[in-house]
Amino acid sequence: MIKQVPFADTGATVSNFCLGTMMFGDRCDEAEASRIMACALEHGVNFVDTAAVYTGGQTEEILGRILKGRRNRVFLATKVNVPDGTDYPAQIGPSLDASLARLQTDHVDLYLIHWARKNMNPEAMLRALSTVVQAGKCRFVGCSNFPAWLIAHFNGLATRMGVPRLVNNQLPYNLIERGLEVEILPQAVAERIAITCYRPLMAGVLSGKYDPDQPLPSDSRSASDTRIAGWLTDHATGVRKLVALAKDRGVNPAHVAIAWVRNQLGVTAPIIGVSRLAQFEDSLSAFSLTLTGTEQKDLADAFGTAVKEVSQYYGPLRRSFELLA
Ligand SMILES: NC(=O)c1ccc[n+]([C@@H]2O[C@H](COP(=O)([O-])OP(=O)(O)OC[C@H]3O[C@@H](n4cnc5c(N)ncnc54)[C@H](OP(=O)(O)O)[C@@H]3O)[C@@H](O)[C@H]2O)c1
Repeated sequence: MIKQVPFADTGATVSNFCLGTMMFGDRCDEAEASRIMACALEHGVNFVDTAAVYTGGQTEEILGRILKGRRNRVFLATKVNVPDGTDYPAQIGPSLDASLARLQTDHVDLYLIHWARKNMNPEAMLRALSTVVQAGKCRFVGCSNFPAWLIAHFNGLATRMGVPRLVNNQLPYNLIERGLEVEILPQAVAERIAITCYRPLMAGVLSGKYDPDQPLPSDSRSASDTRIAGWLTDHATGVRKLVALAKDRGVNPAHVAIAWVRNQLGVTAPIIGVSRLAQFEDSLSAFSLTLTGTEQKDLADAFGTAVKEVSQYYGPLRRSFELLA
């Protein structure tokens, strides 16, 4: 069941299912995207994630058209697009203006720094973000793919400068990619930062559509995403265990993989990227599935992808949620 949950300490709430739109305009045409959006709203999914860079701006254009007349029903997030070699802080305002034009709206709810860059000048970045907030072009600001130390650095500066702090960090998290368990999740709980998790199905590798012992299905992202074959080979044992556990529970592997992410302490919402309405409808079931603690652990052990550390004390310590009690 889809729930509304607090979005960091902003006072706003969002659905715990965030709709990822990266395939809109790519593997998902506009008519299907429109059907997905209608179905999302019908089921209480109001958190929508996009980015200026998706399909060269077409994704935002599609969203602009399909959200016409219902823009105020969604909590809309987009991300800055900064071409390499340009002045990052100086691009924040223009990139957001271009997104707003494509999205046919006067503001987004959340504006994210898509990726950190070398020499990006945090003070200037924060001033540029503050300017767009003050202009009413976005309500909240955040980041994506930031390590814990960097968001702490930005937010320390933001407090001293009296400008809005970063309230969201968007990162990859799934049974294969587990780096954010080191410091980022405990930091999020301590600092009340919303964590949104992209790639919960590892681009489909954890969806059950790929069998490590069979050729790759032609109607899949593996046709264009060459990383998928390698991930499937490297994590074949875990994928087989995931499929077996899903079979035992009488659900799809995608439900189990999404539920595993959703159940982790500190996660606000997984970002569910779909290329078809049927996938959207199917993935809704993951929000009614509860895994036992043993199932969560067995799955993690089957993949063996926790970041390895030699120290038996320091490793668990910096993943601990209990240091603040
Ligand atoms: N901040 C960042 O840097 C960043 C990076 C990447 C993504 N994102 C965001 O995160 C979202 C999700 O990322 P992602 O698309 O890589 O996520 P994902 O959940 O790992 O992969 C989605 C893919 O899995 C397959 N799928 C989805 N639901 C399924 C189901 N119920 N049954 C079977 N297969 C299913 C589809 O593959 P097929 O198309 O092959 O059918 C779909 O394209 C994006 O839309 C975007 O909003 C952010």
